[in-house]
Amino acid sequence: MSELRDKSKQLLEKYIENEGLRNHCYHVEKCMRFYAERLNEDTERWGAAGMLHDLDWEKFPDTHPNTAVPILEENGYDREFIDAILGHAYPDRTDFPRETLMAKYLFACDEVTGFVHAYSLMKPDGLETVQSKSIIKRMKDKAFARNVNRDDIRKGAEELGIELSEHIDNIISAMKKQ
Ligand SMILES: [Fe+2]
Ligand SMILES: [Fe+2]
Repeated sequence: MSELRDKSKQLLEKYIENEGLRNHCYHVEKCMRFYAERLNEDTERWGAAGMLHDLDWEKFPDTHPNTAVPILEENGYDREFIDAILGHAYPDRTDFPRETLMAKYLFACDEVTGFVHAYSLMKPDGLETVQSKSIIKRMKDKAFARNVNRDDIRKGAEELGIELSEHIDNIISAMKKQ
């Protein structure tokens, strides 16, 4: 385990007790690592951004993710890292448009992992045989995983310039990794 991952995990465990939310953070971490590896970016840094993007959500839901800023600053995370985290909630909750690749990928990995995870829970073999086609079809069912924002899922893939089906297949592969 890298020093950065170790430190980030400690921070996550300090601020998030809810197991479901912790798992969500680890899912986004996996997806960020997957893409960083593909793009030859810093996997540790991208993974940490995924892991910490919802750091203040449990304790400060009304001011998330702005309340995470002082916590991240105190713990030595840099401006670009913090801006990427603020960017995942732009424009609804912050004034930080997604400018870096890390910010764009973070936004694109967030809601979709929630949906894919919810979908996998209904399957006896989990993610094993899940394909993007069935995910995209299920996205039209408004009653299913209703708190996951479908528009954000589509917008995320669009901002990356990746076909939604391809992005979802990538997310599935990333989430399957141990
Ligand atoms: Fe969030
Ligand atoms: Fe999230």
